[in-house]
Amino acid sequence: MTVNHLTSWREVDDASWEALIARSRLHHAEPRWRTTAADRALGMLFFNPSLRTRTSMEIAAAQLGATSTVLTPGAGTWNLEWRDDVVMNGEAAEHVREAVGVLSHYVDTLGVRVFASMTDYQQDAEERVLKAIQAASRVPVVNLESAFYHPCQALADASALRTVNEGPGGGRRFVLAWATHPKALPMAVPHSALLMAAREGYDVVVARPPEHGLDPGVMDAARNLAAARGRSVTETDDLDAACEGAHVVYAKSWGGPLAYHDPAHEAALRTGEHSDWRITEERMRATDGGVFMHCLPVRRGVVVDGAVLDGPQAIHQLQGAYRLFSAKAILEWVWGIAEDNEEKRESGHL
Ligand code: CP
Repeated sequence: MTVNHLTSWREVDDASWEALIARSRLHHAEPRWRTTAADRALGMLFFNPSLRTRTSMEIAAAQLGATSTVLTPGAGTWNLEWRDDVVMNGEAAEHVREAVGVLSHYVDTLGVRVFASMTDYQQDAEERVLKAIQAASRVPVVNLESAFYHPCQALADASALRTVNEGPGGGRRFVLAWATHPKALPMAVPHSALLMAAREGYDVVVARPPEHGLDPGVMDAARNLAAARGRSVTETDDLDAACEGAHVVYAKSWGGPLAYHDPAHEAALRTGEHSDWRITEERMRATDGGVFMHCLPVRRGVVVDGAVLDGPQAIHQLQGAYRLFSAKAILEWVWGIAEDNEEKRESGHL
């Protein structure tokens, strides 16, 4: 069967991207109006914790008139196996082939959150867990953050930036700033922010310690997106220079490939000589009136100073708010009801 899953925006054309942003911004401007998805059901599998993604998708479904249900494998429902050809005599009582096969008889769309393993780079780069679930599903599977991508966050981020900047990037400088952190985090958010900024027409600077590069294939994809728009993606290990004159500073920590290949060395660098990689008021003052972004959750005093989060340059709350509006846009898109809803809205029937 052919089903249109959403893994990342890399597979989605510019026209659809523009329509999704427009729809997300419309929901922001008109946050309360209801649409007509009363006959739809959204199921969600959360293999990992969430505050924003879970809540925004549940409320988006409700505000569109649909019903939703959330399952957390191993906590209230069975632990699930995804690998083929394994004898299931461990913790997992059910395989995704059966679990997702059945669930996709009940729902019209399945959202899945499954983070990176942080141990098997090839597995994560190939999105093997998400792909196994997609292969078992009869209905579209929406990525609610996988090993390498977080498309829901990227759409909310782009929509928030368009709102603040009153349009796309237009060659402004977007700094994706690596930050220190007690844990080696996955690359889903930085990958998605990087691709989003390149697609949006920013000149993107990835500021990271020399050892903390992102996935080379994703970097190439971002460079191609930027080049097609006459923009660039560059890298630097000088955070202060990157912040100087920047228009956007998007802070995020990630372990990177080194966390897979030499986790002890990565941890020593992250918490040792790179522990001053934090967005401070001074670094934000050096920007060109730039905005501070973070996907949340964020550790105050570690990734960014509390004064920055509480200050006028921070737009992380707007990003968080846009998660709801973008979730509605994504569900309308997946269910093919955006145009119907727009016609009804324009004619005053919504
Ligand atoms: N940014 C984000 O996805 O937040 P949650 O992990 O809380 O869902």
